[in-house]
This record gives sequence, C-alpha cells and structure tokens, in this order.
Amino acid sequence: MILHINLRSVFLGERNGICVPIVPITRIGFLRKTIECKESRIGKQPISVPSNVTITLDGRDLKVKGPLGELSRTHPREVKLERDENGTIRVKKALDTRRANQMHGLFRTLTDNMVVGVSKGFEKRLQLVGVGYRATVEGKDLVLSLGFSHPVRMEIPSDLKVKVEENTRIIISGYDKCNIGQFAASVRKWRPPEPYKGKGVRYANEVIRLKEGKAGKKK
Ligand SMILES: *[C@@H]1O[C@H](CO)[C@@H](O)[C@H](O)[C@H]1NC(C)=O
Ligand SMILES: *[C@@H]1O[C@H](CO)[C@@H](O)[C@H](O)[C@H]1NC(C)=O
Repeated sequence: MILHINLRSVFLGERNGICVPIVPITRIGFLRKTIECKESRIGKQPISVPSNVTITLDGRDLKVKGPLGELSRTHPREVKLERDENGTIRVKKALDTRRANQMHGLFRTLTDNMVVGVSKGFEKRLQLVGVGYRATVEGKDLVLSLGFSHPVRMEIPSDLKVKVEENTRIIISGYDKCNIGQFAASVRKWRPPEPYKGKGVRYANEVIRLKEGKAGKKK
C-alpha cells in the first residue's frame, strides 16, 4: 500500500480513516532545527509482544507475523526500533528534532497496532440509520441499500471480514487497522450522516450533532 499524503495528515490519520504510509517518507518539508525535544510519553512505552507473534527486525524494516496475518513496515530514519532481551519492542528517536519527537509517538502507536492486529485483530462497526437502509453480504461483496435507485455493491478487500447484524449493523474486522479504517470510511462516504435527522452511515460510536430542521423549529 502506498499512499502519498503529507505528514500533517498522517498525524490525524486514524481519526479520519486515512492510512499512514508504509513506505519511508523521503520528502521533508520542515527545516531541521536543533531544539530541545521532550520525549514523547506514548513513544517511551515499550510494546509487549505475545508469544504467538514473530518479529523480524532488519534495520528499519519490521515484519510482524501472528496467527491472524502478517504485516511489514519500513520505518523512517527519525525512529529506530530495538528489542529488549524479554522480547519487548522499543521505539526510539534516532534524531533530535521536533519532527522525530512527533514521529516517535506516532510510530510507537503504529507498531503496537501491527502487533495487536496480527494477534488479536481489530474491528470497526458501522450503523445504518434510515428507513429502508440495509446491508447484506453477498459472496465477496457488501451490498448496501441506501436510498439510491440501485443498491451499492462494494468488493470486500481480501484481508478483511465483513459481517452484518440485523441488516443494519456492519462489522468490519481484520489484522490491518489501517485497511479496516479505510474500508469503513469508504462505506460511510456513500451516505455520511446528514445533520437533520442523522440519516446515513455512522460509525457505531459517532455522535451526530443534529441541526434543527425548518419544519421542527419551535417558537
Ligand atoms: C522487559 O525488559 C525491560 C528492560 O529490558 C523492562 O523495562 C520491561 O518491563 C520488561 N517487560 C516485561 C514484560 O517483562
Ligand atoms: C495470541 O496471544 C495473545 C496473548 O496471549 C492472545 O490474547 C490472543 O488471543 C492470541 N491470538 C490467537 C489468535 O490465538
């Protein structure tokens, strides 16, 4: 997977369902200044590796293999990975720049997501809200009735599993958190919740701030 996005959006990554680059980032827009850098609190936390996960670390290339799948990532030069003797992974800053400081926390989270993904997996739930809105899985497709003249048919990516409950709850699971988020976002995009009645495709925990419609306006 190669996505060309700039680093500013990387930091907003998961909230927006945007994937983070798996390739090293070579274009750097910031000036490299030597500044006093605080250690990232998240970055400092070691990542524990369960016994069912195999780690292959070769310079900046990390491979993570577990019962649910296999993931790999090449880390940017701002961070380096080390293994403690008990198997724990530590993400460390390799440069003393503000950018390295930001990447430290980010890549600690991403590395942890890889380990959790291949051992326990992730899931994301969507809820269809609207009369007649429904979803079904037909073979390898997710079929959505969202009030258009034709149903929307989406191919389920091969590394993801999709389940539908009560015709309206879509459960997307897999080992790559990034791909789950992307697929969920692409389903939601067909009918993002509208602000009057909240009709549409919502994330299960999404709070829709409803606007008062003209008809419903009270005096
Ligand atoms: C692994 O070892 C490191 C020190 O090398 C220690 O900080 C950490 O707590 C240990 N983790 C476990 C799970 O024992
Ligand atoms: C892998 O090990 C972890 C930690 O022991 C456990 O929670 C998880 O369920 C295991 N995964 C599988 C698929 O057995």
